[in-house]
Amino acid sequence: MKVIVDDVELAATAGERLLDVARRNGLRLEGTCNGDLACATCHVIVAAEWFEHLSPAREEEEDMLDLVADARRTSRLACQIVLTPALDKLSVSLPASSG
Ligand code: FES
Repeated sequence: MKVIVDDVELAATAGERLLDVARRNGLRLEGTCNGDLACATCHVIVAAEWFEHLSPAREEEEDMLDLVADARRTSRLACQIVLTPALDKLSVSLPASSG
């Protein structure tokens, strides 16, 4: 399967976190806390047509997103997005301020 980040297709495997796919490909997505919902440096903006396909954010994720200055309606944390076959060709973009 693939995910698309800023219009670039990246190979991915079901079960992986989007954060790990981004890191493996050297993208500027820090993920400082490695998924502990303590940093929000893994913020991505999900393409509107894909947003509803993701499992809803947990309250802890919503709380972190509240702290993100450039959060949008479809913002999510990449450490909380676990890829499934249904998410093949999931499209996200990186916020301008990251990295
Ligand atoms: Fe820290 Fe996602 S890696 S919240």
